[in-house]
This record gives sequence, structure tokens and C-alpha cells, in this order.
Amino acid sequence: MPLLSHETSASKQGILLLLTGLVAGFLFSFLFSFDPIEASYKITPHHEAVIHEHEDLELASGPEKALKFHEHHDEIDSTIAEELAEKVKVLCWVMTGPKNHEKKAKHVKATWGKRCNEILFMSSENDTNLPAVGLPVKDGRDNLWAKTKEAFKYLHNNNYTDKYDWFLKADDDTYVIVENLRLLLEPYSPNTPIYFGLKFKPYVKQGYMSGGAGYVLSKESVRRFVLEAIPNKKLCKQSNSGAEDVEIGKCLAAVNVTAGDSRDTDGSFRFLSFNPEHHLTHKKSEKFWYWQYVYDEQPMGINCCSDRAISFHYISPNQMYVMEYLIYHLRPYGIDQISRSQNTIPKS
Ligand SMILES: *[C@@H]1O[C@H](CO)[C@@H](O)[C@H](O)[C@H]1NC(C)=O
Ligand SMILES: *[C@@H]1O[C@H](CO)[C@@H](O)[C@H](O)[C@H]1NC(C)=O
Ligand SMILES: *[C@@H]1O[C@H](CO)[C@@H](O)[C@H](O)[C@H]1NC(C)=O
Repeated sequence: MPLLSHETSASKQGILLLLTGLVAGFLFSFLFSFDPIEASYKITPHHEAVIHEHEDLELASGPEKALKFHEHHDEIDSTIAEELAEKVKVLCWVMTGPKNHEKKAKHVKATWGKRCNEILFMSSENDTNLPAVGLPVKDGRDNLWAKTKEAFKYLHNNNYTDKYDWFLKADDDTYVIVENLRLLLEPYSPNTPIYFGLKFKPYVKQGYMSGGAGYVLSKESVRRFVLEAIPNKKLCKQSNSGAEDVEIGKCLAAVNVTAGDSRDTDGSFRFLSFNPEHHLTHKKSEKFWYWQYVYDEQPMGINCCSDRAISFHYISPNQMYVMEYLIYHLRPYGIDQISRSQNTIPKS
């Protein structure tokens, strides 16, 4: 019967297609294991996505062109976030260098950076596209402390402190949920000498804020840092080198800027020094340096991180887009969020 033979030949074709598919799939997975992007990460045997060093992300780059997401006009009501953005004005500055303008900084600008009231990239070369500021410093890790000082001097001397209330420093592999940053800052006056971040306990009595997770200074803290701390060699390290986060922590403590508590009402962490996979799934090992550093008690696993988390670190350029998609686009149908205004000062 013609129909049957047709069916038989169709199923033969199906088997052939399946086989072709299998062979192609095999070849693809083989090729994929030599993917140069994969190869640019230092693969650890058990946790390939756990990244603990800047070097691990040095070669990581993102798509050639920054990705542009669609907007949700009708389905999302962002009135509360928009109102808060008018009220809590945040300038974000991102520590970067000429080698990373294209590879990393561009993707920060295309993702979370656009939600800051203003974003500036602090570099050693000017770049009007980003825009990046060419500060009078040499490039490289040995000059990060000099760059931090010059960045805050630049902001102060160019009167950015007249326009903005809070000044966030982040790295080009930090991902920030800017709306949640504003929620943290809302109860505080920018004239209070205070700064927030992920608090570490060595070196400075009141603690200091880890650099990678980002830290945010009130306007008054920037003023004290630039006018009182930096010029005084008794209060602030004058040379270029040093751990920028420890050094600024010392300078700020010396001019009575309080190291604030950034945890939420439940005491959960909002500034996170690793990527979400690390915090959620990594087994706690007391030998890992982090546990000697972190100021407050932090659980591992699902309670690691606040539902209003502000930042994650060691986020590759590709991963920035994944974060963007998961946080701002993917939504389970039938579940809408309620934005309760909440007091953000933790009960201790
Ligand atoms: C960047 O541009 C400014 C203003 O035009 C200039 O003063 C500065 O020297 C430039 N920086 C570098 C590193 O070229
Ligand atoms: C900053 O403001 C002061 C005081 O209003 C003014 O004298 C100075 O020229 C301004 N600086 C810049 C770079 O705009
Ligand atoms: C910081 O506070 C101490 C103790 O209250 C005070 O003696 C000191 O003058 C203050 N320093 C600055 C720079 O405000």
C-alpha cells in the first residue's frame, strides 16, 4: 500500500535524521570542550563556576556587541523604583582599565550600570564612549589605591557631590541591583558620615568594606575622605600601592566615617563577595580565607543572601546578561511581586 510504504520511508528518514543528529551532537560537544571562552576560565575540578580570584576572569569577555533587552511597558509597574531613583541619587563609578573598556566595562554599562543616576568608568585613559575618565595614574593592580584616591578626588573636584548623594565604587566584574541599593540607603541622610558594603574585620577596628562587592559612601564621607583624610599623611597612606579597600577603610575610620551595617531586617547579607552559585552551593570550609575576614555571621546555602541582595562579585561579562535576564525579565506566570516599603536597619 502506498500509504504504508510512505510511512516506512518516513520512519527510515526519521532514523537517518536521528543518527545524523547524534553524530552532529557528538561532534558539537567535542568541539565545545575546546571552546576558547570555556578555556579562558581556570576550571576547578568540582565547581567550574566558582571563581575566587580576579585572575580567573582576566580573559573572560562578553558578546562583541552589548546585548539590548526589550522593555516591559505594560506588564511591569516600576513606579516605586522610579520614585526612589529621584529621591536617592546614586553615582556609580567602576574601577577599570584600558584593556577592559571593550571587554568588560561596556557590558556593565549595558546592564546594571544604566540604573545608576550616573555611571562613570575610572581608568587611566579617556574614552568618551563609555565614558571613561583618564585619571593621572598608572595602570595595573599596584596602582589601585592611587586610582581610588584620584577617582574620589575627581568626583569631588568636579562638583559631582552637588548633584548626587551617594557614591558607589564597584569593579568591572561586580553586578549591582541598584534598586536594592537605594532601598538600603533611603533611611540615611547623605550628610551622615557613613559608608556601606560587605564588612570585613581585620586591619581596621570598626571593620572595612571588601572592594569587590562594592562599597557606597555618603556625600559627607566623600568630602571627609577627599578634604580631610587624603591630604593628611597621619590619617591616610600617601603612596600608590596597597589594598585599596583596606586603605580607604583606614582613612575613613580616621575621619570618623562609620562602617555601616548593610544587612537586611533579617540580618541577611546584601553585599556578596562571590557569585550566587558560590554562596548558595559551596561547602563551608574553615580553611577558606573568607571566614576569617567576614565581620558578621553568614550562613551558607539558601540563607546566604538577602532577597533584596545588592551586589555579587566575580560576574563575567556573559554572566552579567544572565543576571539581567533572571532578575529583570524572567517571571513565573501568575506570581506578582509586592514591594513593601520596609525599614532596612537590621535589628541586632
Ligand atoms: C583626559 O582628558 C582630560 C580632559 O580633557 C585631560 O585633562 C586628561 O589629562 C586626560 N587624561 C589622560 C590620561 O589622557
Ligand atoms: C565647582 O563649584 C565651585 C563652587 O561653586 C566652582 O568655583 C568651581 O569652578 C566648580 N568646579 C567645576 C569643575 O565645575
Ligand atoms: C573623630 O572623633 C574623635 C573622638 O570623638 C575626635 O577626637 C576627632 O577630632 C574626630 N576626628 C575628625 C577628623 O572628625
